[in-house]
Amino acid sequence: LDNGLARTPQMGFNNWNATHCSGDFNETMVKGIADLFVSSGLKDAGYQYVNLDDCWALPQRDASGDLVADPVRFPDGIKAVADYVHSKGLKFGLYSSAGTKTCNTAGFPGGLGHERQDAALWASWGVDYLKYDNCNNAGSTTTQQYIDRYSAMRDALAATGRPILYSLCEWGVNDPWTWGPAVGNSWRTTGDISDKYSSMLSIFKKNVVLAPYAGPGHWNDPDMLEVGNGGMTDTEYRSHFSLWSVMAAPLLIGSDIRKATPATMGILTNRDVIAVDQDPLGVQGTELSNANGLHVVAKPLANGDRAVALFNENNSPATISTTAAAVGLPKAFGYQLNDLWSHKTFETAGKISATVPAHGTAMFRVHAGGNWWSNPPAVHTNAELP
Ligand code: DGJ
Repeated sequence: LDNGLARTPQMGFNNWNATHCSGDFNETMVKGIADLFVSSGLKDAGYQYVNLDDCWALPQRDASGDLVADPVRFPDGIKAVADYVHSKGLKFGLYSSAGTKTCNTAGFPGGLGHERQDAALWASWGVDYLKYDNCNNAGSTTTQQYIDRYSAMRDALAATGRPILYSLCEWGVNDPWTWGPAVGNSWRTTGDISDKYSSMLSIFKKNVVLAPYAGPGHWNDPDMLEVGNGGMTDTEYRSHFSLWSVMAAPLLIGSDIRKATPATMGILTNRDVIAVDQDPLGVQGTELSNANGLHVVAKPLANGDRAVALFNENNSPATISTTAAAVGLPKAFGYQLNDLWSHKTFETAGKISATVPAHGTAMFRVHAGGNWWSNPPAVHTNAELP
């Protein structure tokens, strides 16, 4: 959506994967996350939005038809939470559904038919981001019905005059990548992620083929991160984070980082990997090969480098190889390879290769030219000289 927002994929936090609608989801949690964004370096690493998911409201609108915050979870109201988040130099996001009710069985009100009133209220609260779900959608099935429901809220958000990032949560129904770019800043490409390697893997496979549809202001959204929720190993979480970044996916932390391990924080704040996700060229990586579950995904970067993810989906270690030419780099005497997880630098004549553990990902930033001339290999032969 051409509203000036999400020129690179949005980064932030959303409580859903960590809490669903449990009692942990409340004002104390949200403020604690905002505090941690600042104190733990997440804000400096680029995370910006602190977003609330389903279950923030009361089941009934008030006498004037306005949404009301749940007074147990949010005793000071939503505006007070938004003000707090803003006071930390961060942005604030909220959730609703393009339906008569949201997804939770408690029957919280949805936005369908209330678009202008709800958008105006959110703008008055200082909302910077809307995630708009697809439950209770009045039985809509056709693509046009989807476009109409989601466009009504796009227009209502625009009418507020407040810049509000618009995240479509239609679960990949009706090929949103074909109509989403004109409607929202991102669209979900699949059903919900769960905190399992098999779920992360199947979502990766569905999302990676959609590279041509993504770009600045309009991103494929393979759903929020599970990093830190405990259902995958750290190796698997590193794959999750690497693959989402090489796919230029929104990076929304979905674990309760107040309880994060150092390994979780290390993954989420890996600036080299984040820089791949946030690269200003805004191109989603393309899968070059995936034979026998050994995946090579390459993403062009603004300075001419390529990010390369070598992902081993199998249960035993494997060597995965490609070349500088195959990932689209120009011919050069040598290439510099930065390993974005070990932070080591290598020189290569063109081969890009790694032994990758089961379910693991090696990720490189590859630069044509390297620094061969200023820092030649310690041992070389005349045959290597030009
Ligand atoms: C379905 C969405 O896909 C999830 O991300 C979450 O927002 C839930 N609904 C909330 O009910």
